[in-house]
Amino acid sequence: MNNHFKLNHAAEYDEELLHVAIIMDGNGRWAQQRGKPRFWGHRQGAETAKKIIEAAPKYGISTLTLYAFSSDNWKRPRQEVSMLMQLLQSKLQTEVRTSIENGVRISFIGRRDRLDSRLVAQMEKAEADTSFGQNLHLRLAIDYSARDAMLKAAQLAANEEDLTREKFSEYLAQAMNCSEISPDVDLLIRTGGEQRLSDFLLWECAYAELYFTNVMWPDFNEEELARAVETFHSRERRFGAVPQARVSVV
Ligand code: FPP
Repeated sequence: MNNHFKLNHAAEYDEELLHVAIIMDGNGRWAQQRGKPRFWGHRQGAETAKKIIEAAPKYGISTLTLYAFSSDNWKRPRQEVSMLMQLLQSKLQTEVRTSIENGVRISFIGRRDRLDSRLVAQMEKAEADTSFGQNLHLRLAIDYSARDAMLKAAQLAANEEDLTREKFSEYLAQAMNCSEISPDVDLLIRTGGEQRLSDFLLWECAYAELYFTNVMWPDFNEEELARAVETFHSRERRFGAVPQARVSVV
């Protein structure tokens, strides 16, 4: 990648810690465009995920949430679902050691009751084994639906008298089987050309900057990540307020 771009990032952005969430879309089309089965694209997509996880801290990313399997993905052909689950299992087997070495703390969000018990056991072990990681918090969304999580959080909060955003976020973490509150998403990236959120982190993305790219997930790389982060930093985040320059004339 372009060195100038890299240096810019190191100098300007290292201090800012970001929560980036990614909808890794386009694996199936990428494979089909090459005359290969869809699963080939998912396998390649897992390689891309590994590279992006490794690169993330360089761009000031302290939390990275990847949409690995949505609750709606159960509707896919049985064979594709089972291959995706096997892929997750085999990646967990091989990548936990690397994560420990790289200071990556892994956790999972989503339902666990519909997953194979061996996968759940692996997930729990990965969470425990990587719990000391300081460089990056990697959150993998598996059997995840933002609406279902919010619905469950609302049920858990039903008897709460003074429900605040903070408290709701705590219930939401509980609903997602996660031990801690998610920070707000700063930047949401979706590859593969579609421009929608597909039931991903709807509460946490309230003020996220959205970045859509036509690049298919298997082709996404560090340079594309740098471009997305660069775009994020070029935007003005106002959180509903007025721009600084206009404050004095009000
Ligand atoms: C969407 O592409 C992608 C998925 C449903 C699965 C994402 C999973 C991975 C990248 C592999 C596992 C990841 C990790 C972190 C180990 P799509 O199939 O909807 O593509 P299409 O829109 O072209 O059909």
